[in-house]
Amino acid sequence: MIKQVKKAIFPIAGLGTRFLPATKSIPKEMLIILDRPILEWAVIEASLSGIEEMIFVTSSKKNSIIEHFDKSSILEDLLKKKKKMDKLLLIQSQNKLGNFSYLIQDEPKGLGHAVWCARKLIGKDENFVVILPDDIILSKKPAVKQLIDVSCKTKGGSVLALEKVPKKEVYKYGVINPKRKMNGFYSINSLVEKPKPEKAPSNLSVVGRYLLNSKIFEKLEKQKKGFGGEIQLTDSLASLIDDPGLFGIEFEGKRFDCGSKLGFIEANLNFGLSDKEINSSLRKKIRNL
Ligand code: G1P
Repeated sequence: MIKQVKKAIFPIAGLGTRFLPATKSIPKEMLIILDRPILEWAVIEASLSGIEEMIFVTSSKKNSIIEHFDKSSILEDLLKKKKKMDKLLLIQSQNKLGNFSYLIQDEPKGLGHAVWCARKLIGKDENFVVILPDDIILSKKPAVKQLIDVSCKTKGGSVLALEKVPKKEVYKYGVINPKRKMNGFYSINSLVEKPKPEKAPSNLSVVGRYLLNSKIFEKLEKQKKGFGGEIQLTDSLASLIDDPGLFGIEFEGKRFDCGSKLGFIEANLNFGLSDKEINSSLRKKIRNL
């Protein structure tokens, strides 16, 4: 029987230099899209997909993340006293998103190293997900759930979220060399991290959602530095190709790269346009720009 996927690793130790000076004091994962930090949107997606354990691989400088997901009795009492019941329910629903664990990645050694830091919290032969919160995905079915469904169809295979990007942009991503396409998903032959466009095996790029089997930790343990002198998760993924296999799905939904200024603003506009309270006024304001 395939075990349910219950744990998600969020690698969030990065410095967020692209958003300086804001990120001098605010973790980039705490920047706001509409009315929630980027990280909370990713946690909501995980929770809606059935994930119960949220594992944050973070840095000691990011205490506001711990505060944000912690229960705040003082705030709850105040909202009760002021009879702001809608806000109270909103705050309380946050505490029900899952159980939170925090691990410190003390050196920026790369995504592969960040994932490896969480190895002791994942069981033997257990499937888990990795979520890069920079990528926010708006979709009918949560993107993580889409990966879980493909994993079930492939008897517990590992699954990557894929997006076709313009060939000239493949240098920003891990890129797959697909073997076959069947029933809407790909089986994977090999992968390469941030290839030059002329050397890329395809334009099918990995975006920030991975469903992986814990045997990847054996490979990560020995993984040598790759692109940019960092331990790359992409370089270890090939170890999952054998039975039950490594697959990829072009997920349904719209992805916003909130690690870039343009993607961040685009996400805010799109989330604003899907918010009942402000959508029509926002539409007018955009028209009048
Ligand atoms: C990381 C991964 C890359 C992946 C990308 C998705 O790169 O290394 O394989 O395609 O996330 O966002 P980063 O964006 O951290 O440079």
